Amino acid sequence: MQEIGKAVKSNVYLADNFSDLTMFLEKINSRTLWVVDTNTARLVRPLPEAHVIIGSNEGSKSLKSVQEIITAASDRNFSRTDTFVAMGGGLVTDTVAFAASIYKRGCRLLLIPSTLLAMTDASIGGKTAVNFSNTKNLIGTFYPANDVIICPDYLKSLPEKTYKCGLAEIIKASFLTKNDDLMKELVLNKDKILSRDMETLKRVITLSVRIKCAYVNNDPCEEKGIRKALNFGHTFGHALESLKRMNVTHGEAVAWGMAKAAKAALDKRLCDEDLVKSLMYLLSVYGFDTAYRINPGDWNEYRRYLFKDKKVKNGALKFILLKEQGRPVEAELDEALLKSIVADI
Ligand SMILES: NC(=O)c1ccc[n+]([C@@H]2O[C@H](COP(=O)([O-])OP(=O)(O)OC[C@H]3O[C@@H](n4cnc5c(N)ncnc54)[C@H](O)[C@@H]3O)[C@@H](O)[C@H]2O)c1
Repeated sequence: MQEIGKAVKSNVYLADNFSDLTMFLEKINSRTLWVVDTNTARLVRPLPEAHVIIGSNEGSKSLKSVQEIITAASDRNFSRTDTFVAMGGGLVTDTVAFAASIYKRGCRLLLIPSTLLAMTDASIGGKTAVNFSNTKNLIGTFYPANDVIICPDYLKSLPEKTYKCGLAEIIKASFLTKNDDLMKELVLNKDKILSRDMETLKRVITLSVRIKCAYVNNDPCEEKGIRKALNFGHTFGHALESLKRMNVTHGEAVAWGMAKAAKAALDKRLCDEDLVKSLMYLLSVYGFDTAYRINPGDWNEYRRYLFKDKKVKNGALKFILLKEQGRPVEAELDEALLKSIVADI
C-alpha cells in the first residue's frame, strides 16, 4: 500500500491487490458500517454483519438510502469516531459520504471506490451528494473522506461501458495539467489501458489522482473558481445527456463535450490546431464518437438544457475552454457559434 496523494484532509492510498487492501482494513481500530450496492455487494466476501445494501442505479442516490444508512448506524449506537465504509462507484461513495457528513455532525469515512471514475474523480475532493426531486446532486456537502483506498483489482469486473466512462475523465485530466506524463501513458500504452493491464492502470490512476488532488487542494470548497476547470467538456456533455436521456453514458457525453469545447476554443482563436488534433486523436483511439451532431429539430431542447447548467450567471453561460494543455479559461460563447458547433444547422 502506498500513499499517492492528499486531497484536503483525505489520504489517498493505492493498494497493490486485494490482500494489500485486506491488510489495511484489518488495521482499522473503530467499528465499521459497510455500504455497498447490489452489484458491489458481490465483491465483498463475506460482507460484515454491519452493512447496508443500496440499489445500483442513480435512483438510489437518494435521501431514502441516506435514511437507511443512518438508521443502521444509529441502531448500532455508532459514535462519530466509528467509520462508514463506502465500497462502490460514485453512486455509493457520494451517498455514503453525504450520510457520514450529517451523522452526529460528521463521523469517520473511508471510501473504497470500485469504478475507474470513482477512483480518479468521485472519491477525491470531498463533494458529497444525493439527488432530490428529479434534480441530480441537489443536496450535498463538502466532506472529504479520512481515507480513500484505491484497489485497481476491482476494475477487472467492471462492465466495458462503465470502464470507458472513467477513461473519458482521465483523458480530461491529462489536458488539465502542463505535465505530460499522463498524456504520454495514454498515447503510448493505449492497448494496455484498454485491456486493463494492472501495472499500467496503477500508473495512470496515480497520475490522474494527483491532477485532481492539485485542483482540489487549490480550491477545496469551489470558491476560487479553480476547480471549475474540472468541468471541461461537462457543460456541453450534461446537456447532451439530458437530451439523449439513457442513450448516452456520462463518459461518452463528456468526451463529445470536450471535442465541442476544443472546436469552440479554436473558432475563438484561443488555442492552436495542434491542441485540438491531440485531443481528437486521443478521443478517437479510445473509441469515443465526437462526430455526432444533434438534429436541428432538437436544438431548442438542447439549448434549454444548456441554460439549466449551474454555470449560468445572469443569463450568460460560461464554458471551460483550453488555451493550451494545462491552461483552462472560462469563456462565454454566443448562440450562433454554439449552434454551428453542436447542431446540424
Ligand atoms: N463527488 C464527485 O466529485 C463526483 C464526481 C464525478 C461523478 N460523481 C457521481 O458519481 C456517480 C457515477 O459514478 P460511477 O460512474 O462510478 O457509476 P456507479 O457508481 O453508478 O456505478 C456504475 C455501475 O457499475 C457497478 N459497479 C461498480 N463497481 C463495480 C465493479 N467493480 N464491478 C462490477 N460492477 C461495478 C455499479 O453497481 C453500477 O451498476 C454519479 O452519481 C455522479 O454524480 C461524483
